[in-house]
Amino acid sequence: MSFSFRQHPQVIAHRGDKARNPENTVSAFRAALDLGASMVELDVTLTRDRKIVVIHDDTLNRTTSGHGRVRDKKLSEILTLDAGSWFSPVFASEKVPVLEDVLTLCRGNTLVNVEIKPEAVEHPMPDDAIEIQVLELIRRLGMTDSILISSFHRRVIQRMTGMKGPKPALALLSDEPLDDDTMQFMTECRVFSYHADHRILTSEQIRKTHDHGLKVLTYTVNTEEDARRCLDMGVDGFFTDDPAQFIRFLER
Ligand code: G3P
Ligand code: CA
Repeated sequence: MSFSFRQHPQVIAHRGDKARNPENTVSAFRAALDLGASMVELDVTLTRDRKIVVIHDDTLNRTTSGHGRVRDKKLSEILTLDAGSWFSPVFASEKVPVLEDVLTLCRGNTLVNVEIKPEAVEHPMPDDAIEIQVLELIRRLGMTDSILISSFHRRVIQRMTGMKGPKPALALLSDEPLDDDTMQFMTECRVFSYHADHRILTSEQIRKTHDHGLKVLTYTVNTEEDARRCLDMGVDGFFTDDPAQFIRFLER
């Protein structure tokens, strides 16, 4: 694994350029690439026929013209849905993308943070579990050095750590204050980074995480005041819904 940050701080386009495009769509990712975001973040889950799609919620209700749980629909059904009109009629032709399409778009252009949603994690792990499929796809596309896999679900991190062969970097997501158990888990799994909610992150936690050799990213930063505070505390980067605003902010 030779994943590394090439810029400081990382300005990570949360679900793409979400401020100006419907989240987690090809338009949102293309716009983030055009802005020069250091990394794009996206969310993945499984359809009923076990395809990997890029969508944040476990239901289709908020961000598409469909209804019901993603896991109950086949990919062919999901691909008929409009994933853009909820944001603006201009985006009526947007579809829910499959992961492969987004990774292909980003390949060679930017780092990608793939968040595996907890509802896609199965136990026991089947042969076509989301963790296995994601890893196989990343290897097939030759992207192990430019992808960071994250999850709130520790099982994802444990499973990925235990898989043989070339692997992407790993990150644990958290919305709880960092404790010794979490730090021990992350060091045992040799994660690359710790991703924490900026509202609970402290400079002491950041220092401690850095002392263990891990990077710290924080979500979701949408005001300059919060960005300044997080950077003063020492974060290595932040997820934002408005990458353009913060790329300009950092240029100033
Ligand atoms: O990875 C940071 C952030 O995306 C985690 O929260 O709910 O936006 O997926 P959420
Ligand atoms: Ca996410």
